[in-house]
Formats: sequence, C-alpha cells, structure tokens
Amino acid sequence: MKNGNLIVGLDVGTTKTCVVVGEMYPVETVEGSFLPNSVHEIAIDIISVGSSPSAGIKRGVVVNIEKTAESIKRAVKEAEVMADVEIKAAYVSIAGDHISNSSSHGVIAVKEREISQREVDRVIDAAKTVAFPIDREILHVVPTGFVVDGQNGINNPRGMSGVRLEANVQIITASVTSMQNIIKSCYTAGLQVIDIILNPLASAAAILSQEEKDIGVGLVDIGGGKTDITLFYDGNMCYNAALNVGGNNFTNDIAIGLRIPASEAEKIKKEHGCALMSMVRNEETIELTYTGDRPAKKLSRRNLIKVLEPRAEELLHLVKEELIKSGFRGFMTSGIVLTGGTALIQGIDIMAENILELPVRIGIPKCIDGVKNGVSNPAYSTGAGLVLYGAREALAEYKFSNANLFNGLRTRMRGLVNKIVNLRR
Ligand SMILES: Nc1ncnc2c1ncn2[C@@H]1O[C@H](COP(=O)(O)OP(=O)(O)OP(=O)(O)O)[C@@H](O)[C@H]1O
Ligand SMILES: [Mg+2]
Repeated sequence: MKNGNLIVGLDVGTTKTCVVVGEMYPVETVEGSFLPNSVHEIAIDIISVGSSPSAGIKRGVVVNIEKTAESIKRAVKEAEVMADVEIKAAYVSIAGDHISNSSSHGVIAVKEREISQREVDRVIDAAKTVAFPIDREILHVVPTGFVVDGQNGINNPRGMSGVRLEANVQIITASVTSMQNIIKSCYTAGLQVIDIILNPLASAAAILSQEEKDIGVGLVDIGGGKTDITLFYDGNMCYNAALNVGGNNFTNDIAIGLRIPASEAEKIKKEHGCALMSMVRNEETIELTYTGDRPAKKLSRRNLIKVLEPRAEELLHLVKEELIKSGFRGFMTSGIVLTGGTALIQGIDIMAENILELPVRIGIPKCIDGVKNGVSNPAYSTGAGLVLYGAREALAEYKFSNANLFNGLRTRMRGLVNKIVNLRR
C-alpha cells in the first residue's frame, strides 16, 4: 500500500458519486522531509478514480442517508482498489438550493502600521461577524477587495502600510441540516470529512485559470439534476446561482418523446445525442432496443435531436437570463466554460455561443497525469477540483500554522461532526 500524502475528493452528485484520489508531492524539497518550509509549490498526481451511481440524492441534496452512504462506500472501494490505498478522509463538495450568498464588510485598526496576514485574517473575521439564523452555517468567506486608509480596489494588502484596513467579502452559507446530512452519510460510509467545499469553487480549481478568473469568466456546470452558474471577476467568485434543470431532464424528454424506458433513453442520449439539428445529416439513423419481446427499431437520428434541441435551447436561455440578472454579463471577457456531464452533448458549446453571445469552451479537468485515470471528462471537474482545492487549502494551512497538515481543517469540521456523533449516541 502507498502511504504518501493523499488528497481525496468526494463529489456526491445527483447522478453519480465519485471519488478522486490525488497524491501530493512538493516540487521543491529538502531531502528527507516532506513539505518543508522551503516548499512553494505542490504537484498533484491523480492516482485513482472511483465512481458509482448515486442513490438518495435529489438535486444535489441528501434525502436518504443510508442510500447515499452505500453509493459513497462503492465509489471509495473502487478508488481504493485501483490505487491500492486506504481512504479514511476526504474533501467533500456541497451543492443545492439551500446555498446562499450575501455581502459583508469589516473594518479594523492596524496596530503595527504594516498589514500582515494576521491583519488580513482579523479584518475577514470582523466581516464574518454578521448574524445568521441558527440553521445556517458559513461555508466560505471570499474577499472581494480591500480598502487601506480609504484607498479601495486593493486585491492584496499584505505588506502595505496603513492604519485602517477594510475588507469587502462574500459570505456563502449553507443549511446546517444539509451539511450535517452529507457529513452523516460519509460517517456512515466510514469516511471522515476534512472540509466541505462549494461545488463550483471546487470545479473552478480544476478547470479555470487564474487569468480567466481575473478578467472575468462564467462557469456553467450542467450536471444530472441541476445547472450551477458561477461567475468570477477580478480573481474571485462574484455570483452564484443554480437552476433545477440538468441532463436528467434531457433523458426524460427522450423517454417520453420516443416512448422508450429511461435507461434506454440515457444510453441513446450519450451515444447519439446532439444539441443542434444542423449538425445531423438526414440519412443518419439510430437503433432503439426495447426490453421484453418488442423488436428493435431503426429511427432517423433527427427524431432524437427534435427532442433534445428545444430542451438545450431552453436551458441555455435560462442561463442567459441568469447572466443578465447577475449584472456581470458584460464583465465575462473570457466567456463561458461549460462543464458537468451534460457538456458532453455534441454541439452544446456551439449552441451556447449563439445564445449567450459569448465565447464558449468545454472545461475538462487539467490534472497532471490524470488522463490515464479517466478524469479528463467534464463529469469529473468537481471531483478533481476537490483534490486541487484541498491540496491548496492543506498547504496554506500548513505554511501558515506550521502545524500538522490538515489539523486546522479538522478542527473546523469538528463542531459539526461532534453534533452528529452525539446524535448517534
Ligand atoms: N456523453 C454524454 N453525452 C450526453 N450526456 C452525458 C454524457 N455523459 C454524461 N452525460 C449526462 O451528464 C449528466 C451527469 O453529469 P454529472 O456527472 O456532471 O452530474 P452529477 O454531478 O451527478 O449531478 P449534479 O451536479 O446535477 O448533482 C447525466 O444526465 C448524464 O446523462
Ligand atoms: Mg455535479
């Protein structure tokens, strides 16, 4: 078995549960020690991926703990076997309608007249001290800009001189019960949760470049049960919304439109699906197979596209409405990155460019050496991103506190985990 320094991401999606295992190693090492102080960068090698169909999840939220735990167990087992490792803890993503965003502002006096990381942390803490209902928990605090002695538009105030430091932040909160249910599912599956990360922030770590986030980019993750729309500008997330439409709606439309079972519709969609009628030739045919005695039937592929095209158009128009509503559409200089399993539907990027009137590309996780393990698929953006996000978080924690890797993060989770352990007693 490998011991190394593994970072594990667990993405419990509406249609599939996936576990991505990365091995983290420092690019610059002092012989004989792991992650010494001199380390500036880390490299990640994705060493295995496990996936199983999800059960007990509706629109990204756990609705049945036992079933979810079973899916987690299966995905973990598969990843363990593939890499010959033992998985004990993971970074886990969270999504769903219960996530909300609000803006806040903090102010502090700078004692030593020079701003260090300590002051940055203090001002962010000050911005966090807003009252939230007891059923909500802070998931992330994203700084969107600092103000030093009245001068605004500062991204990194560290090292600057000043007496008054202000921070503008976005606070992302989640429902405590939803967070507890995902932790409980992991706990039931025998897995510890190191940290919970907002789904699109994880995906962004795997598929967006810093430059794209600086000049403005929209991430549209079209999954099975929902579509997440997350906008980045000036290096940070500036808007996040979710639509309750995803690939499952495409499958249902096919099942109804072609009068076939959902399982066959799913297969046909993946093999022959296309969003644009103009990409399909008249003579192309597909074969529908039925269960039982019904004979297989040949059909023009255009009949399938007749069903898919309007659904794809409708979804992309909803995305456009959300972009307009956000007020950031004009700032998306890098355009839109489509990801999630449904981004694999042929032609959806071309249709998106026409409807959104922005450049569009498909986002595939850019993980070193990950290709061989099949993570270079948009359905694995979140799983791979969790590994990258987790590695960065663990490294920052390590550099900063100089404590044992992960200890700080584990402390953060302890509150929620303890509540669950108590519940089970
Ligand atoms: N080759 C393909 N062509 C078309 N659709 C595909 C393809 N592969 C996967 N899909 C669709 O992608 C969807 C699953 O995407 P993904 O794995 O990103 O979702 P998820 O993370 O499980 O769900 P969610 O993010 O909504 O909770 C399914 O609807 C599936 O049918
Ligand atoms: Mg997903």
